[in-house]
Amino acid sequence: MGNPWLDIPLADYEGHMALPDVGQARMLGDIFADLLREYAPASVAVLGCAGGNGLERISSAVTKRVVAVDVNPAYVEATRARFAGCISGLELLAGDIQSDAVTFPPVAFVFAALLFEYVDVDVTLRRIRALLTRDGVLASVVQLPSASTCAVTPSLFTSLQKLAPGMRLVPPARLHELAKSAGFAQTAARVDQADGGKQFAVQTFRCRDSQVSD
Ligand SMILES: C[S@@+](CC[C@H](N)C(=O)[O-])C[C@H]1O[C@@H](n2cnc3c(N)ncnc32)[C@H](O)[C@@H]1O
Repeated sequence: MGNPWLDIPLADYEGHMALPDVGQARMLGDIFADLLREYAPASVAVLGCAGGNGLERISSAVTKRVVAVDVNPAYVEATRARFAGCISGLELLAGDIQSDAVTFPPVAFVFAALLFEYVDVDVTLRRIRALLTRDGVLASVVQLPSASTCAVTPSLFTSLQKLAPGMRLVPPARLHELAKSAGFAQTAARVDQADGGKQFAVQTFRCRDSQVSD
C-alpha cells in the first residue's frame, strides 16, 4: 500500500489545519518559533514539512542552513515556490524519511511535528539520530488521545479521512523510551493545546554519547 499522504492535495491539508475547529497550523508554527528562539540553531531540518508551515519563522541571520523533507513531491515543490527566494541555503528533499536514500549532511536541530504518527517510530528516530550533529537536538510534536474528537477531526476536507486507517498515536512515554534506545536523552516535555481543543506533547531530545544514561 502506498503512503496515503501522496493522495492528499496540499490545499486540503492546509485548509483543514487552518479551520478554527482544528487550529493546528498556527499552533505548530508558534511551537517552532519558540524552539528556534530557545536553541538558535545554525542548521535546521524540518521533517514532514508539508507546504513549509513555520519556515517563515526562521531567521536567516541565525540559521544558515535549512533542510525541508516531505514524502509528497508536490508539497516539496510548493515549499520551494514559497520559500526558495527568501531562505538562503534552503535544501529541499522529496522522499520517505525512513529510507537511507533520503539523506543530508548533519544539522544541529530537527523539527518533527505530527510526523511520528505516520512512520515507524524506531526506524525514524535512528535515521534522525544519524542526521544530527554530535550534540544535536530533536524536537517532536505528537498528538495526544482525545475522548471527544476523532484522531483526524472530521471537516469539509474529506480527503483527510484517508489518513485515519494508517495513523497511530504515539504516547509520549513510548517516544521517550524509543528515543532513549536510539541514542537520545529527553531534555524537556510539555503539553500544548490547539484552538480546536486537541492536545499535543512537545518533547525535546539531545543526542547523547553512548556511555551516558538518561
Ligand atoms: C500531519 S502533517 C505535518 C506537517 C507539518 N509538520 C505542519 O506543520 O503542518 C505530516 C507530514 O508528514 C509527511 N510525511 C508523512 N510520512 C512521511 C515520511 N515517511 N517521510 C517524509 N514525510 C512524511 C506528510 O506528507 C505531511 O506533510
